[in-house]
Amino acid sequence: MVIKCLENYEAISSHAADIVAAAILEKPTGVFGFATGSTPVGLYKSLITCYQRGEITFSGLTTMNLDEYVGLSADHDQSYRFFMQHQLFGHVDVRPECINFPPVSGEPSAFDDLIQDKGGIDLQILGLGSNGHIGFNEPGSAFDSRTRIVGLSSSTIRDNARFFEHSRDVPRKAVTMGIRTILETRQILLLASGANKADAVVRCLEGPQTEDVPGSSLQSHHNVTVLLDEAAATGLTQK
Ligand code: GLP
Repeated sequence: MVIKCLENYEAISSHAADIVAAAILEKPTGVFGFATGSTPVGLYKSLITCYQRGEITFSGLTTMNLDEYVGLSADHDQSYRFFMQHQLFGHVDVRPECINFPPVSGEPSAFDDLIQDKGGIDLQILGLGSNGHIGFNEPGSAFDSRTRIVGLSSSTIRDNARFFEHSRDVPRKAVTMGIRTILETRQILLLASGANKADAVVRCLEGPQTEDVPGSSLQSHHNVTVLLDEAAATGLTQK
């Protein structure tokens, strides 16, 4: 695991964009896993700039998103499809038929089959929940879990209420790539920013590997880069 502590959010975003752009250049027909949440927004802005400058193209890529709320229509402004369309996909030349999300109805494991059919995910971008979740794999998720429907924890509902008018509007269920699915990706880029992630960062990176802290599963992956800003890194002892 390579852990980099950078000055601030802007530095994380531009460094992350360098890593993703290099991976796209190396494998222009690759399978790229995208994440939602406020953390990767700066990364996506930087990638759009790279695209507009003609440095990268998304035209050969297949995309696999990490998760999606169950119960929101695709055009709901808080659905993750809507988020990705507005934060990235709508601004670059990714082919719409190559954009994939875990299914909100039907058999969730079809998503794992699709990932396999496409040859596996080359690079997966991840954010981190303040409770240590990755995707919507909440504390207690099995490390060998696959794509499935999950219930959201009360802390996640509280965290994500800021995007909705009322906390009662936050969906209680989601579909998420499983931890095993995430660990099978060839390269992982984990981003965390801000003091409210500091505790989760320590527990994921320096604590024991435990299903109580889903992000701690990443310690067993052979190719993980973690980008933190100073606030998110404050609790680490091995800086
Ligand atoms: C959300 C998403 C995660 C995301 C995390 C952190 O609930 N399901 O994929 O990484 O929580 O979000 P944020 O970046 O807004 O802090």
